[in-house]
Amino acid sequence: MLATKQPVLKRFWYPVIPIEHLASGPQAFELLGEKIVLWLTADGQPAAVADRCCHRTAQLSKGQVIQGNIRCPYHGWSFNASGNCMQVPQLEQGKPIPSNYKVPSYHCAKRYGYAWVSLDDPLAQIPEIPEASDPQFRYIQQFYERWECSGLRLMENEFDNAHFSFVHQGTFGNIQQPEPAEVDLMELEYSIHMKTAYSVINPSLQQKNLKINQSTTLRTNELIWFVPFSRMLYIRYPNGLVHGIFTAATPINDSASQIVQFCFRNDTEADTPASDVIAFDRAVTLEDKAVLETTDYDIPLVLSKEQHMSSDKPGLMMRYKLAALLKEHGEIEHCKGI
Ligand code: FES
Ligand SMILES: [Fe+2]
Repeated sequence: MLATKQPVLKRFWYPVIPIEHLASGPQAFELLGEKIVLWLTADGQPAAVADRCCHRTAQLSKGQVIQGNIRCPYHGWSFNASGNCMQVPQLEQGKPIPSNYKVPSYHCAKRYGYAWVSLDDPLAQIPEIPEASDPQFRYIQQFYERWECSGLRLMENEFDNAHFSFVHQGTFGNIQQPEPAEVDLMELEYSIHMKTAYSVINPSLQQKNLKINQSTTLRTNELIWFVPFSRMLYIRYPNGLVHGIFTAATPINDSASQIVQFCFRNDTEADTPASDVIAFDRAVTLEDKAVLETTDYDIPLVLSKEQHMSSDKPGLMMRYKLAALLKEHGEIEHCKGI
């Protein structure tokens, strides 16, 4: 499946850019192959429109935010969050601005420290994360970076208990224990819930981070996949510590994703500095990145095109769900060469 060729994928919310990046002015982003510009309006809300002026096609992201509107750098036309042209400096005083002086605008909202965008009317809500408003939990911003892999490859990896022993040998994986743990799966309309538990290696940084002084420990995990390219992972440790990680693979184009990761923990900065939490999760994500960037970005939804084993079931469910979504919206799957 090539993400940019499936219009239904425009009907989901994606975290696109940290809100704080917009404080310094407009920012360009490529979402599902569409060039967009984001900025903050006068009331501090993020806005997103096409990054191409309707006059002579200049990039609006090279312009400035003036009184909450984005002003084109070429002739100074200004556009509001709905894409309507609000000012044409060359227009005779009192003359109305033609209504077709307009650029496409997109759904845009602020949540969890990010500007989220849906290019078309959204089918599902922005994923709900109860810990974001729970005072027992702190928020830690972790990663915002481009990976050269498709979103679905990262999503199936997150639900794949069979890769830890190999990919994560440098962190928590145990090469002596390649058999993947059993999983419980439950399917909802735009999500899959999975529960699993397994023993992991507990290296020295983690012993400090978790306050568990043993060389192995148990992870009781709950994962939620949100169609199409984000997931929440709750790792619960025997001492009551909860490490909840949200990861999105926001689709830049067919072969690249903007990785957004933040976490929620029910401990304090005094217990474990955020920098140590990030350092361990960084080591884990780099192990995944190294292998995922070698995979083919075109994931066939037709199962016969790759070989599978029983622990691949969550990934296969993702393929079924996406295939059903395309069908429901009258789309055929587009692959390389088709
Ligand atoms: S190209 Fe944007 S105002 Fe002329
Ligand atoms: Fe992994």
